[in-house]
Amino acid sequence: MKSIIVANWKMNPATLNEARRIFNFVKKGIRNIKSTPVIICPPFVYLPLFTNLGMQIGAQDAFFKDEGAYTGEVSPSMLKSLGVSYVILGHSERRQYFKESNEMVKDKIKAVQQSGLTPILCIDKLSQIPQSTKGLIIAYEPLFAIGTGQACSLDRAKKMRLAIKKKAGERVPVLYGGSVNSENARSYIKEAGFQGLLVGGASLKPKEFIDIIKNVCYR
Ligand code: PGA
Repeated sequence: MKSIIVANWKMNPATLNEARRIFNFVKKGIRNIKSTPVIICPPFVYLPLFTNLGMQIGAQDAFFKDEGAYTGEVSPSMLKSLGVSYVILGHSERRQYFKESNEMVKDKIKAVQQSGLTPILCIDKLSQIPQSTKGLIIAYEPLFAIGTGQACSLDRAKKMRLAIKKKAGERVPVLYGGSVNSENARSYIKEAGFQGLLVGGASLKPKEFIDIIKNVCYR
């Protein structure tokens, strides 16, 4: 099965020029790789510049209504109309800084799916898996590993992957995220059995990110 690699740029980079540079560098670097779907998730404001350029694009969040008086929010149908295909939901930073609850995340999943987009649901506990997992991609992101440089041990990650599969169903693709780099990327796929990776910090270093993709699909 193909591994899915998702780049979560978070609130980076600080300028449009830098965003263009990273995007173009990555696009060029992986132009011959057809076997690994790569999904780039830039901040909202950069999205329209990168859709319809031959790369898969995702957003980092979406609201649970399609339009209306919700100042500052962005709806799934807006994203769909730009050519976005995926939406990261329930990222731990949103749960922490914006107090997103499982309930709210559940509403977002529903709205995103109704617009024909695929949710990539981030979890660090089994209790964050909703009852219905149809059409979901799940990313296991242990809190201690996010942005810390301390990736999860393969043993622990594998146990969690199996537990997620058991609860969510075999058909749900499960990705690993948390301090992924070009050194450890391959082992999460080949040894711990994940179906892909959600890459934060390393996805902003284009050379490193291309190495991650190459290490996962070749060798
Ligand atoms: P990291 O972030 O790769 O920088 O640890 C992963 C994430 O938060 O999605």
